[in-house]
Formats: sequence, structure tokens, C-alpha cells
Amino acid sequence: MMTFRHRCATVTALLLCTAAGQGVAQTRAPSSDAKAAERRAADTERRMRPDERTTLTHGLWAIPLIPNVVIPPEAVLGAGYVTGIPRLDVPALIETDASLGVSYIAGLRKDGATALPSATAMGSTWNPDLIRRGGAMIASEARAKGFNVLLGGGINLMRDPRNGRTFEYFGEDPLHSGVLGGAAIDGAQSQHVMSTVKHFALNAQETGRHAVDGRISDDAFRMSDLLAFELAIERGKPGAVMCAYNRVNGAPACGSDYLLNRVLKRDWRYPGFVMSDWGAVGATDFALAGLDQQSGAQIDKQVYFGAPLAEAAARDNAYAARVADMNRRILQSIYAVGLDAHLPVKGPIDFAANAAVARAVEDEGIVLLRNQNALLPLSKDVRSIVVIGGYADSGVLSGGGSTQVQPEGGPAVSLPMGGEGPLAKYNNQTYHGTAPLAAIRALAPKAKVTFVDGRYPAEAAAAARRADVAIVFATQWMSEGADVPNLSLPGGQDATVAAVAEANPKTIVVLETGGPVLMPWLDRTGAVLEAWYGGARGGDAIAATLFGDVDPSGRLPVTFPASLDQLPRPALPYAGMIDRDFAAGVAEGKTYPIDYDVEGADVGYRWFARNGASPLFPFGFGLSYTTFDHRALQIRGGASPSATVTIRNTGTRAGSDVAQLYLVSTPAGRTLRLAGFAKVTLQPGATATAALAIEPRVLADSKGGRWTMPAGTYGFALGRSATDLGPVVTVRLPAREWR
Ligand code: BGC
Repeated sequence: MMTFRHRCATVTALLLCTAAGQGVAQTRAPSSDAKAAERRAADTERRMRPDERTTLTHGLWAIPLIPNVVIPPEAVLGAGYVTGIPRLDVPALIETDASLGVSYIAGLRKDGATALPSATAMGSTWNPDLIRRGGAMIASEARAKGFNVLLGGGINLMRDPRNGRTFEYFGEDPLHSGVLGGAAIDGAQSQHVMSTVKHFALNAQETGRHAVDGRISDDAFRMSDLLAFELAIERGKPGAVMCAYNRVNGAPACGSDYLLNRVLKRDWRYPGFVMSDWGAVGATDFALAGLDQQSGAQIDKQVYFGAPLAEAAARDNAYAARVADMNRRILQSIYAVGLDAHLPVKGPIDFAANAAVARAVEDEGIVLLRNQNALLPLSKDVRSIVVIGGYADSGVLSGGGSTQVQPEGGPAVSLPMGGEGPLAKYNNQTYHGTAPLAAIRALAPKAKVTFVDGRYPAEAAAAARRADVAIVFATQWMSEGADVPNLSLPGGQDATVAAVAEANPKTIVVLETGGPVLMPWLDRTGAVLEAWYGGARGGDAIAATLFGDVDPSGRLPVTFPASLDQLPRPALPYAGMIDRDFAAGVAEGKTYPIDYDVEGADVGYRWFARNGASPLFPFGFGLSYTTFDHRALQIRGGASPSATVTIRNTGTRAGSDVAQLYLVSTPAGRTLRLAGFAKVTLQPGATATAALAIEPRVLADSKGGRWTMPAGTYGFALGRSATDLGPVVTVRLPAREWR
């Protein structure tokens, strides 16, 4: 029997087994490589001529949609281009959006790419090794297309499930998002492609994203959203941090001295550079607040970090010092990731090998939410199946906006969603990847498999009545730039699902949603799978899970509320209002505060626990076709606390379990915080001992920028979810305080 403790040395849990203390050390004591990069950067910066000193501090949006912008021939059509300095062998920065794959930018570049499933699906894997492979895969494709910077690493926490970019983020917990986000970045940069982490910070909704002002206390912020960034930065060492559109405590995030100079650069000693989001810069003095590079500068009112910055530097020492620092930071990241030594080489892509990575992510990302009377896995001898709705005959849904990825040849289905102007194409609702219908047919060759589009509930119900099994696909499209108004499935799909479930008790609902949705029909269904946005092999992964070729091992990275009034803000802040104000020309100078201190650091499951509210499905939840037994949880104290637990597969199939360790009490009282996790794969009857590092910052409270832990008794429990906790094990820990 191979124990998980042994596996820690090589596989899934390596990061978790070793990294909790390491990450801190790496930021505070730079490795020799980082020091060498710093020395080289200082040397190159000294050799810059005056006319070269603002070259790296601004870039353009490299798509031919804006009049009067000349895109240099060596740029690749994509999100951005920052001119290099050939005299000093400084390469241009050629940037593409790439959180989920090299993006397609509305079809302007015709080459396709491999789409990973949504980040929420990635979050459901709880498997940093797999997510690291995903990051490396995307970066390898980016290099083959001529890019050297990925605008990836989206790790905003889900403070509102209606956020239109929920699918771009890993979840709602800072440890979970920080670990997985760090792994994605690390994977990308292993290919000598620089990655960002974004959007720094509190970019929690798309409604009024350029105008809303997130208000939150420093302590709560550092224990939640900022902790996710802090962990991802330590683990992934991204070359750049992308600041957000919104304001934070009054200041624009990209012009926030507090966020950029104080938290990021002073407290965390971040050595890389801060790039703005596209169109997020409002003045040259954002440089003094810590912004190092103005991205997509033609979208702002002016190129603030070009001539105006050079002029400011010529007359003001503070600006001159800042410009030198901006250059050193950008150069340091270029050298640390090896962009100058490993120029991108355009070449062929092994799409089959890369699709296997996307498939592995979706296999582990699908979450089985309900399985009445073991309806799943389906027998391959089933005689008739009706597949209903969700364009399941064509592909799987994907999210819209800058992360949109398409395969070679374009999307399987592309539905215009309205909108005006040159960016309207960003709005298409697109389906790609493999089609679930074909994959189901392939796995059940003896069955009669029919398809009904699902637009008419009565027609779908009649087809369901005639079949042995009904599999109804329900979709919720999300896109950057807009939130969903509520958590109901759009377009009358709830009526279709309800009618089908009424007609056939063997109804399986497959959800392809960006995030949580309400399920008014839940009790009438036989089974529910959350498949998220499934990526390049989504249909195959869904079918393999339905028929049991793959055991579902995904666990929810977000809480599914039972109703909107369970949320910290039952009404979406400023829905409709800010757009109206902009259209009426009255938004300028107005503030739109959102009070995030309502929940503070108690985001997601912690908010539900605080209020004693029962969610529809809790954070960490997910069923399997097998069963696991947890025994002998042991906690070791000391400066680097850790845990071990023995897990046994008590069922008859191989499967994977996620050991979730929650802190349930501190000397100050009850709490609920994910403190560590590890994923274990076990054959039937096999046992493993999982070793989990405990992240010390999760045990501590932030007070005035310092982590503090009182001496006393801390309680821990292993959870099958945030609401299904095992026996509490306590340990005495000494008082600690650190930054
Ligand atoms: C998004 C970023 C993206 C950038 C470039 C912005 O609108 O917020 O996530 O990287 O565009 O496409």
C-alpha cells in the first residue's frame, strides 16, 4: 500500500505538503535567480537613454478596432503590445488574454487554441498539480503563436454569485484560490511566458465596474481577497499584477497608494510590476501611487505614461525616481521569467495532447450534486435516452469576454447577444468543444439516443416520457462586462427541466453554468451534475462521468445559495443605475460605494455559517460513485502546523477524495475557515494517509497589517463540505505575531 504521505513527495499534494512556509520565505528572501534578475535590471535601467525611459511604461491594445492606432507589424493581434528596446536586447511584451486558453479576440485572429474548462471548474478539481499543467499548456500555445505575456491568473473571490466573471475565478475561499491561482501562474511561467495575477483587488461585480467603490476595512481585506493574492503571488511569482477597474476605499485601484505601494510593494515586498487593466488609468500621478505600466493606453483619455510622464520626470525628482523604479521592475520580471533568453517561436501546436489536459481538468472538475437511488452511473445497456436542450448536439457552453477561446475553425454555435459598436462581437454566446450528444451515443452504442432542443417544455416532456432516461442540459451564459440579474436559469429552462422531471423520474440534469444557480425543480430530479463550462473536451468528460468511466471527484469551490436573500447583498448593487447615469452624463464625480464590510472576511461559506443559513449546496460538497471513510485526524502544532488523516475507499470503484481541513475554533471563539486540503486517489479498499500543511495565516487575524495569533486552543475538523464536519480535534498553539 502506498501511503499519501509518500505520494506527497511527488504528486498532487506536493505544493500543499511543502509550501505553506516556503512561500513566505521566497518572497522575503529572493532566490539567487531573482537577485541576478534584479542586478541585471538595475544595470539595463542605468544604460537607458532619456528617450527610452518611458518606452516600457505604456502599451497599446493590439486589435485593429480603434481608429488612428497603428499596430506595429511585429505585434500579434491580441490584448496588448509594449514596444521593446532592441538596442538593449529588451524584448517587446506581446500580450494575450489567457485565463482559460489563448483567447480568440472576437475572431480577429483566426487561429484556434485549446480551451480549458472555466476557472470555476478548475477550482472544483482542488488539484494544483493539474492546474499547473493547464497553465503550462496555455503558455506553450501562447509561445507558439508569438506571445510572451499571459493576462491570466484571475483570482477575485466570489463575493456575489451574480458577478458576470464568476467563471473566470477559482472560487470564494482565499486559501483555495491562492493555491490554485499560484499553480496556474507557476505553470505558465515554467514555459518562459510571463503571467499576471488579476484583478487587484475587490473587482467583485461587473455592474458599474469602472465606477463602484468597494469599501472594506484593512483587517478584513487582508484576511480575504488580499490573502488570495498574497498566496498566489508567493506561490506563482507572477511577473505582473494587473490592477482593477473599480475603486477601493475611495481611490481607483490602479491609482491606490494603499493597494500598490503599501500592501503589495512594501508589506509583501513584491518585486515585479503593476500593469493597469485596459482603460483603468485616469492620470499621470497613478505612477506615484505605484502603477508601473499603462496598458491599452489608447483606451484611456490619454497616454499618461508616455510624454506626460517623461515631462514630469524631467522636472520632479519623485517622478524621475519612480520612472527608474518602473523600468527596473518591468525589466526584472522580463529577466526573472527568461523572456529575453527564450523568445517565442511560432510553430505547430499539438492540439490532441493539449486537449487531453483540458479533458483531465473537466474530468476532475465536474461535481455530482445529486444521485437518487444510484441513478448514476448509467448502464451502457440502457435502451433509450433522450438528450434535451443546451445545444448538447453541438458542443458545450463557454463564457464571454476577453477570456473567450475557440478551436481552430471557430465556434460550433455562436449566438449574437446584441450590443453595439466594434466590441459587439465579444458578446456572442458560443458553444465549442466536443458535443455531449455524440459522446453519449459513443458510450451507449446499444441505446436509441434522440435529441430535442428543449425550447418547448411540453415537447421535451413528451420525449422524456417515451425514453428510459432523460438527460436535460441547462445553461447559464455569463460574460465579462455584465452581471446576471439573478440566479435563475434564463430562457424558461426551469420550466423545461421541471416538465421533464415530472414526466420521467429518471431525469438527469447537466448544468453548464458560470457559477451557482437556483434549482426549483431539484427534488423531482434523479440526478444533477454541475459541469460548468467544459472546455475543449467537455462533451466527452460529461458522457464519461454519466456512464461511470470517470468517477466524479469535483467538490464545489463556491456556495450555492438557496435564495438571493441569503446573500450579503440580496439586491445587486447599482443594477441598471450606473449605466443610466453614464448615459445621462451625470456619473462623473459621483461615488457608488459598496459596503463589503457587511460580510468582511466572511466571504461565501463563512457568511452562511455566521448567519446559520442553509445553502442549497455548500462549499466543498460533491458526491462520488464510491465512498470514503476518514479516520484518525491528527494535528501537529509548532510554528508550521500540519495535519494527517487516514482515508479509506470503502466502496467498489476507484475514486478521488478531497480532504478538507477546517479551522472551527480559536481562543476567541467559533469560526469556520478552510485551513488546508489535499486530494487523494484510491483504489477500492485502499487506504492512504494524507498529509496537509496548515496555512498559518488562516489561523491568524490581521490586525493593523500584522498577523496575530493568541496562545491557546485551536479546534480543527475534517469536512466533506463546509457544513458536514467530522469530530473536532484540538491543539494548543503558542502566541505568534508576524507580518
Ligand atoms: C479585462 C482584463 C483583460 C483586459 C485585456 C479587460 O477588460 O478586465 O481581464 O485582461 O481587458 O483584454
